[in-house]
Amino acid sequence: MRVCVHLAALACALLVAATLPQANANPSYANVWEDYYGIGGTSGIDSSTMVIMDTATGKRCQVCHVERNGGSPWNAYGWAIRQADSGDLVVDFQAVEDDDSDGNGDTNLAEIVADAQPGWTTTGNVATASNGSTSAIPDQDIPAASPLDPPLGGEFACCFADTGGCALLTTAACSAAGGTPDTGSTSCVPNLCPQPLGACCNLDETCSDTIAADVCLANGGSFQGQATACSDGPVDCGLEPFVDPLPIPAVLAPSGTRPDGVLTYQISVQTAQQQLHSELPATDLWTYNGAYPSFTLETRVGEPIEVTYVNNLPAGAELIEVDECAHGPNYYGDAPRIVTHLHGGHVPARFDGQPELTLLPGEMDVYEYPNDQLPATMWYHDHALGTTRLNVYSGMAGFYLLRDDFEDGLGLPSGDYEIPAVIQDRQFNADGSLAYPVSLPDSFFGDKVLVNGKVWPRLDVDRGKYRLRLLNGSQARSYRLRLQNEADPGQTIPFSLIGTDLGLISAPIGLTEIAMAPAERFDVVVDFSAFPAGSEIVLRNDDTTSPVVPNVMKFVVGSQTGFTGAIPATLRPVTPIPPGDATVTRWFRLIKIGEPCAGSEWVIETLDGPGGTPTGDKLWDDLSEFVQLGSTEIWEFENPGTVMHPMHIHLVAFQVLDRARLSDGAPLPLEPHEITTWKDTVKVPADTRVRVIARFDDYAGRYAYHCHILDHEDHEMMRQFLVVNDPAACDSDGFCEAGEDGINCAADCAQVSGARCGNGLCEVGDGEDCLSCPDDCNGEQDGGGDDFCCGNGGTNPVGCGDSAGDNRCLDASLLRFCRVMPRLAATCGDRLCEGAETAASCPQDCLVPACEPDEFTDETMCNDGLDNDCDGFVDSADTDCPMAPDTDGDGVPDNADNCITFANAAQQDSNGDGFGNACDADITNDCFVNFADLGALKAAFFPLPYNADADFDSDGFVNFGDLARLKQTFFSGDMPGPGPSGITTACDRR
Ligand code: C2O
Ligand code: CU
Ligand code: CU
Repeated sequence: MRVCVHLAALACALLVAATLPQANANPSYANVWEDYYGIGGTSGIDSSTMVIMDTATGKRCQVCHVERNGGSPWNAYGWAIRQADSGDLVVDFQAVEDDDSDGNGDTNLAEIVADAQPGWTTTGNVATASNGSTSAIPDQDIPAASPLDPPLGGEFACCFADTGGCALLTTAACSAAGGTPDTGSTSCVPNLCPQPLGACCNLDETCSDTIAADVCLANGGSFQGQATACSDGPVDCGLEPFVDPLPIPAVLAPSGTRPDGVLTYQISVQTAQQQLHSELPATDLWTYNGAYPSFTLETRVGEPIEVTYVNNLPAGAELIEVDECAHGPNYYGDAPRIVTHLHGGHVPARFDGQPELTLLPGEMDVYEYPNDQLPATMWYHDHALGTTRLNVYSGMAGFYLLRDDFEDGLGLPSGDYEIPAVIQDRQFNADGSLAYPVSLPDSFFGDKVLVNGKVWPRLDVDRGKYRLRLLNGSQARSYRLRLQNEADPGQTIPFSLIGTDLGLISAPIGLTEIAMAPAERFDVVVDFSAFPAGSEIVLRNDDTTSPVVPNVMKFVVGSQTGFTGAIPATLRPVTPIPPGDATVTRWFRLIKIGEPCAGSEWVIETLDGPGGTPTGDKLWDDLSEFVQLGSTEIWEFENPGTVMHPMHIHLVAFQVLDRARLSDGAPLPLEPHEITTWKDTVKVPADTRVRVIARFDDYAGRYAYHCHILDHEDHEMMRQFLVVNDPAACDSDGFCEAGEDGINCAADCAQVSGARCGNGLCEVGDGEDCLSCPDDCNGEQDGGGDDFCCGNGGTNPVGCGDSAGDNRCLDASLLRFCRVMPRLAATCGDRLCEGAETAASCPQDCLVPACEPDEFTDETMCNDGLDNDCDGFVDSADTDCPMAPDTDGDGVPDNADNCITFANAAQQDSNGDGFGNACDADITNDCFVNFADLGALKAAFFPLPYNADADFDSDGFVNFGDLARLKQTFFSGDMPGPGPSGITTACDRR
């Protein structure tokens, strides 16, 4: 049996090298085998690559001898001969079975040489190889190395005195390069060159003097040259660690208080410059309110807050080039869109920072966070579809700390002894600007670690306990953190874990290290009281992801006594969610698939489906997870790949149930912090399957779940689930009532009624599609006027590539995606009084609201500065929207001055407040607030590619929330800032 015959000889030798036994020297062959050197093996001889020399010509050949013995079905010997100078193959690789059954003599080395190139000989005793039955060359007979003498033009180890470096070069080439030639070795492994002493730049960018070059390299450093010193001008090891004090983000002050007592906050996304290390020039950033990391929001359970987000970035701004192949920019382009997500927040879908509800420069949105959940270390960060990685990298992240009386009463370290610390990796250009790959990378790993916006900072601490609220806010990097005493590096320093992503744990857990994936939070207590003043304790990262960054920050212990209170033995009990409560188990696979623009993308594939048949849904627009409000579900993520994915689910606090190896099902232990704790992000390492369990309470609507490696999220490793009402709430009484909707109660709510072609809404549920109603169901791919028609259940006749079924059709020539998002049928329960619906048959939709749209759906919005008294009018009776001066110059200060006059001249006073203006949600004056109003608003103000989508707030329904959203978007167009009320509203536009 011939083996490896189709492979090049050396490749084949490498294949088997690792299996070869160590060979011993045999001096009797010393004249035959002039030299040999190893390839791929650790002991040199193992790979048995030998050099023989033709004494007549002085040319050398390499003979590769490979052997594999024992344990395998075959034993084989083989050789290849190649010219050492040219590398030309002289004899192809030969290998035969041990018993050489073909008897062709290939096992005889002399024969091989002669066959291949008559006239080539070897000196001395020709080695004769054979099969085991005759005179095999066992490995141990292969001779030891002897120096080539003379060199005869071959390549030998060439030594460089300044660096101690070694290179295989010919004598001439070595001299020309300034090295010392003919050192007698034909290998640089090991490097036998004399090693100079000099300065070494260590892996952590510190500098050490008088280090041997090879020692420096072996430790991952870079040697600066013979006799160099760290103090030399030219020696620059990068940014010196631990010089800048750790910044503590300031707490954001409220901008005001609503009449109902709710505190309001203003957050403006704006450019800023900040020095991120004292040796770096200032870095251009995109920040919240000018600070990176942002101001901290300090909040309390049971006290909702209102946050107004404004995009104050310059139109057309681009801090880091947007890759328009990424999911999002491929459709929306590269405008600087922002949308803010409260990570960990249990909030209505409307305020979740849905990635497509982005704000363009000049736009604003008002969110309300209920703070109706357990206290936790949360964070708010950008979530714009396909540019999240860029926006977060540019600086858009801040802490959101939620507290309650119970936690305050535990006596944990607080005030100066409570430190929120966000750990993020970055990479800088020489001018201090942020470096990031132009093309969406597979995973980005920076070579600098910042804590609270400073590279490798230091914190002076008192001798006592500190509560560190650690957040991994990195793009893709995981950390394995531990504390190291500079004075005693081997010492193990314990710390206590007291909380995880979404709250305290039942009792402190003693740890000495902890692995932290992106978006995970660990609440830990570190006690510095045992260290003498002057001790330097480094927070180290033992994760080996390249580029390796061993440093995070340093604590320098002072002489003051600090917090010495005891940490309670029990904290806040976490009750396990019984797996038996789960009514649904969902199954997802984390994979990478082909994608026409970028080549490939990360996605989440749904593996379950109706009747156990997977739908194959993988993409953002593939909405296939309909979760019943109030139910408990188990979600199972399996990772057949080779990189860990930290999976995050919005809305819920989950518990990790278990982890198993994917390939063989073997159970794997959970990490201590994963056992009965509140989490929102879980590591799904390569070749594992992880199950989490959660209750989906309180809020219906559309939420995201995704991998929190931001590059993966910006691929398309992010999908949506829709929380829907409980079908049990359907009483089939013919009336569409609270808790019923067209999804859960078609009997009462799904009336096909009033869909109109031409209203700007593609009412698929009522039978419209791109053929029957191109007015509504066609769209623009890129704003350039190309009609398309796709995503309508397989009807895909024109212009849009071939993925008709998935709402995401590709225009191959533009490499852009286009889509129409189908809307629900006109139904009772969608808050729109349509066609056949009447106040009697559908009171839910047809009782005309007295207040503006948001107030109809959310009473708390009565205090938003518009119609505060809910009398249907925005007027001087609304105390936070006082009568404006005569801004429209009509001679009378009136309500028209408060609200921008609607651009449509035909617009009348549909809400009866005496003025035809945009405060009239009944834009079309048909006495109903309905789809037609949406269509009119859109037609007037939303000439944007996504205007085919009327579900602007992405809650799964076309309803008043969308009107509100549209209004906010439009009226914030040239928003000057808060008016006299102190609150920025549509009425502040002058
Ligand atoms: Cu922190 Cu959806 O993310
Ligand atoms: Cu989140
Ligand atoms: Cu991932």
